[in-house]
Amino acid sequence: MRKKVTLITGVSGEVGLALVKNLAELGNKDLLTLDIRPQPAEYNQYSFHIQGDILDKSLLNRLISEYEIETIFHMAALLSTRAEFTPVAAHQVNVEGTMGLLQLATEQSEWRGEPVMFIFPSSIAAYGMPDLETKSRFSRVREWEWNYPITMYGCNKLYCEMLGTYFSRNYRQLAAESPQMLDFRCVRFPGLISAFTVPSGGTSDYGPEMLHAAAKDEPYSAFVRPDTQIPFMAMPDAVNALLLLSQAPKNALSRTVYNVTSYSLTANQFREQVLKAFSGAKIDFKPDLKRQRIVDSWPADLNDNDARRDWGWKPEYDVERSFDEYLIPNIRNRYQG
Ligand code: SER
Repeated sequence: MRKKVTLITGVSGEVGLALVKNLAELGNKDLLTLDIRPQPAEYNQYSFHIQGDILDKSLLNRLISEYEIETIFHMAALLSTRAEFTPVAAHQVNVEGTMGLLQLATEQSEWRGEPVMFIFPSSIAAYGMPDLETKSRFSRVREWEWNYPITMYGCNKLYCEMLGTYFSRNYRQLAAESPQMLDFRCVRFPGLISAFTVPSGGTSDYGPEMLHAAAKDEPYSAFVRPDTQIPFMAMPDAVNALLLLSQAPKNALSRTVYNVTSYSLTANQFREQVLKAFSGAKIDFKPDLKRQRIVDSWPADLNDNDARRDWGWKPEYDVERSFDEYLIPNIRNRYQG
């Protein structure tokens, strides 16, 4: 008998670490984690970790020979700025890596006669607004609007959303009497902010970087203009969105891809929130043209009505609660003891 497990890829990234801890605290004992990097030692109590590459087919084959994978949280990805520097590597990890896991999940669904659940984090990067005038005219975008990403990462995410949806509707066992399709579910996240990890290689990173630099008493130059506006979310809400979506009854879901968001801030409003807690923080703005162009193509806000209606999504951390109760106390504690 193979052991039943939940697989989490990219566990050593910022969402992965928060997710595995939450899953374990909710009583999930059989967690298998996979990352190209080691898992921080303090997380070994939560999961059995395998250090390896999602592109390694023999590793994936070994996994399915040893484990019955019931759910996959596929967090591994190269983020948007990094992907612009290494587009081919980004395509390999973000698209081919996802394709390999989707294939594994569809075959497992067929084999066990029950759908494997595949939870996929997508992003505001799946959108692409052509100019700032359009961005200000269409601020709370719906899932199907402005799907014209301008980055490799955004293209990768949008395509993988479609691949997941495709595999959840079409697979070779369609011919069977009661085919068992993969149960693919996806959220499009805004920029995420964690008190415990600093993201690396993203383009929404100016927010979290500003905050962590202020707590360390280091000067920081944001790589965007002060009026740059995108939606953000605190990490506990991001994890909660993944968990809520995974717990929703299948028949309540009217879509495979859902926007989720919490609050929308300009870079200057973000700076003001940071200054409220760290009044001496030295934060200025030195826009980087390429990164600015990327953030300008992302919507100023997201419409997440469908997630709210279908599976009861509601952020618990608005801007005040994010900063006052989650970010500032934990970051102070982290850097200032
Ligand atoms: N935070 C991601 C990035 O900046 C977008 O989802 O790449």
